[in-house]
Amino acid sequence: AGQAIMQKAVALAPDRYVTGGKPDPLTSSDDPLIGAPVSRLDGPVKVKGEAKYAAEFALDGMVHGALVYSTVAKGRIAALDVAKAEAAPGVVLVMSHLNAPKMQPPPLLMREPLGGSGDALPVFQDDRVHWNGQPVALVLAESREQADHAASLVRVRYDVEDGVTSMEAARAAGIQVAEFMGAPLQNVIGDAEAALASAAQRVDQLYRTPRQNHHAIELHAVTVAWEGDVLRVHDSTQGVVNAAFTLAQVFGIAQEQVRVTSPFVGGGFGGKLVWRHHLLAAAASKASGRPVRIMLSREGVCRAVGGRTTTEQRVAIGADRDGRFMSLIHTGVAVMTEYNAMPEPFIHNARVLYAAPAMKLEVQAMNMNMVANVPMRAPGESVGSFALESAVDELAEQLGIDPIVLRRRNEPVQDPTEGTPFSSRHLIEAYRAGAQAFGWQERHAKPRMRQEGEWLVGLGCATAVFPYYRMEGGAARIVLSRDGQARVSVGVHEMGMGTATAQTQLCAVRLGLPMEQVSFDYGDSALPGAVLAGGSQQTAVVAAAVKAAHAALCAELLKLAGRESPLAGLKPEQVRSRDGGLCKADDAGRWESYADILARAGRDEVDVTAKAPPSQESEHWSMHSYGAIFCEARVNVVTGEPRVTRLLGSFDVGRILNAKTAASQLRGGMIMGLGAALMEETHLDERNGRVVNASLSEYHVPAHLDVPEVEVMWLDIPDPHAPAGMRGVGEIGITGTMAAIANAVYNACGKRVRELPITLDKLM
Ligand code: MOS
Repeated sequence: AGQAIMQKAVALAPDRYVTGGKPDPLTSSDDPLIGAPVSRLDGPVKVKGEAKYAAEFALDGMVHGALVYSTVAKGRIAALDVAKAEAAPGVVLVMSHLNAPKMQPPPLLMREPLGGSGDALPVFQDDRVHWNGQPVALVLAESREQADHAASLVRVRYDVEDGVTSMEAARAAGIQVAEFMGAPLQNVIGDAEAALASAAQRVDQLYRTPRQNHHAIELHAVTVAWEGDVLRVHDSTQGVVNAAFTLAQVFGIAQEQVRVTSPFVGGGFGGKLVWRHHLLAAAASKASGRPVRIMLSREGVCRAVGGRTTTEQRVAIGADRDGRFMSLIHTGVAVMTEYNAMPEPFIHNARVLYAAPAMKLEVQAMNMNMVANVPMRAPGESVGSFALESAVDELAEQLGIDPIVLRRRNEPVQDPTEGTPFSSRHLIEAYRAGAQAFGWQERHAKPRMRQEGEWLVGLGCATAVFPYYRMEGGAARIVLSRDGQARVSVGVHEMGMGTATAQTQLCAVRLGLPMEQVSFDYGDSALPGAVLAGGSQQTAVVAAAVKAAHAALCAELLKLAGRESPLAGLKPEQVRSRDGGLCKADDAGRWESYADILARAGRDEVDVTAKAPPSQESEHWSMHSYGAIFCEARVNVVTGEPRVTRLLGSFDVGRILNAKTAASQLRGGMIMGLGAALMEETHLDERNGRVVNASLSEYHVPAHLDVPEVEVMWLDIPDPHAPAGMRGVGEIGITGTMAAIANAVYNACGKRVRELPITLDKLM
């Protein structure tokens, strides 16, 4: 299937596009290890409690840090009384802007190539307060409890200034077109407003999505020590190299002087970046001469770690009587701060999903005094899909057309905004397969047609989509030894999603070795590569880097093989790995084992490092993961309570590398979407910008009983232009899910909720 689709895609490509390089041979490999549901290699150590997380490194002489958070949104620290705290038992140091060492502002994630900080504000360098919850003092003590107690004794007096703590105030203060990764979030094709006005049918609605906090199970934590001139950091991060670079910049030292390791991460989702506690731990460790551990409390995460931001989105669709889109408008605002770079690019979905002759897509940003918002699983695409896919459902209802038929009718033949061909797009097949498995034909076209006891039952669907990314910085090292062991190392991350397992599988296939003879090292800034576990790109980056390193390995082995080898005279591009050796690509019989090549050359091992080439593929092709989400929702006629009782995702995400870990990623994304649809919301006190529900008792996320069986399925069609045919699976599950749930709730009870979360008060 892979070959046929590849040929089709190449044939479809207009002459002006080159293909973005030759396909990875593994794209069409029939090795059964690709896709095998291998259990996590790190599972046993985690179950046994042997996996050490950032706050579990007990260093000699270590002290513990606790933070004091500001209680005003904007102003100056007028007075800071630390006498009681300094006199409290066990206290080693109280640090604030009054006595902190000089530190440079931290380089910002997505603004500077290796930036890793959630915000770009200097830390403890002046008396300014920028948000309610900003750390204003740090206490170091011999125990965590002593530090927490002493922190409670710090008294701060503020000169309070008027902060911007409401949408209205933010709007009044100024609004501008947002930029995402260096480009404006804006597309204008034709006159979309005029086309809308003259369309036979139209919907034109506002949708709202709230702030959300990151609530990974593992609290943000860091343990640091200065070993001479080297800063040693045990972190929980999705960017070891970004963290090292950021800390090096802040302290004015070389990047090599910061070593960050992060072997296990208890959930990332975009929030495990560099925050103030990292910088303060390192500064306080220097000042006190002691190793320092800071683990934020759950409240601390809500105060000092940013999450998803508020959006207000307009979606307007004009269509002819058959439902063909004449105009697509998706515009709106996202709230940001003055010192971050994450505007929730909620137009990404509209850019690629539907053919429409006129489009107006735009994200504007306005600023508030709040903790810097950062990526949170499918930033933009998740909340954008809620608005867009709700509006498509509203149009289908108005036209009396099945929502899947309406989507099929507007399926584009090429990227609607870029004009590029799709690398591989099988959204309609995903719908077909999903609809059949879900029993979509049972859906009533009109709401309130099905009631079981107190429960109104409805079905809904929505499209999931997430871009393919492969950022620069991929590099890998392979050490192959004569005993047939290969060690592959890349500075990437295992946040529980199965990176180490899936990559070990792929490396084994690439190297022609059994999995047991391959080890995969990661989570260390000293390893090759600078790769973020973000943008659902890690799998592709590692695959491309290992492919490059494997090519270097083949070249090296051919040099060593010499004239007596059956491989003599072959060029690197003429060979491939199989059965613990190299063979001619189209003549498997011309083969020699790694062991024999190394033995003849008198070598114990070969050691190669190579960089992944830049991602040509996403310049030449429109590359995205797709899916169709189906939901059965129930609404209680007495209480208004909404419940999701069935959820199914049918995905077109390229080739699946590990059926077990990929299913978990897709399912987990959908569950996060369920939480966003029905529960999650950070409440901000508009008088003072304070997060009101800074705990998991008041910030609701789905518990087990809230989550039904979540079915996931995939087409497993390789993307001919992605390394090993794979696109991302980490974020797409959350996209589409909120709208599928909102659409099912509407189909159940006839109430259209356009403001998340869909709580019972909105359904009464
Ligand atoms: Mo993600 S929001 O790219 O961790």
